[in-house]
Amino acid sequence: MTPPTLPGIERVLFTEEQIARRISEVGEEISQRYQGRELKLIGVLKGAVFFLTALARALRVPVKIDFLAISSFSTRPSSPGVVRIAKDLDESIEGEDVLLVEDIVDTGFTARYLLETLAARGPNSLAVCTLLDRTSRRIVQVPVAFRCFEIPDRFVVGFGLDYRQLYRNLGYIAVMKPDWSE
Ligand code: PRP
Repeated sequence: MTPPTLPGIERVLFTEEQIARRISEVGEEISQRYQGRELKLIGVLKGAVFFLTALARALRVPVKIDFLAISSFSTRPSSPGVVRIAKDLDESIEGEDVLLVEDIVDTGFTARYLLETLAARGPNSLAVCTLLDRTSRRIVQVPVAFRCFEIPDRFVVGFGLDYRQLYRNLGYIAVMKPDWSE
């Protein structure tokens, strides 16, 4: 089915079918890795919500979920990097196998900060799973254990990712026209 034309959208990067297929493959990989254990999925609001629910349904191990929200500040326009927790987890992760679920890892600042912060709470294990990985924009290195897609250096929306809070609800992932997003 051809997606409707929406303002600012240039083209579809991944269709609903491609995303569903890839999430099921990555879900299988994760299920095998954590076989015999319970897994706690931690979603980073808001973008990761759509991916987390789809991923959770693709897993064959018992799953718990929790969410946190972060705020990012930059002292200069070209320097991202100061991250803090705006909404913390509801429950402890001590002794648990934790998978931090992201919609996108970009500069890496958010994931690195969260990995450091969560590691200090004594989980049994801690790893990152992301729907999209834009390694061309990486500033700090973070270990990404599971990822669905590597993407080019373009502004993308859909499946949780927004443009000014819009388009998170698209079932596909699309590239925005450059003059809209930059
Ligand atoms: C996005 C994404 C990650 C972060 C990644 O969140 O969900 O949390 O950016 O970027 P980084 O690797 O450069 O740190 P965003 O701030 O857009 O919030 P949202 O999820 O509410 O859209």
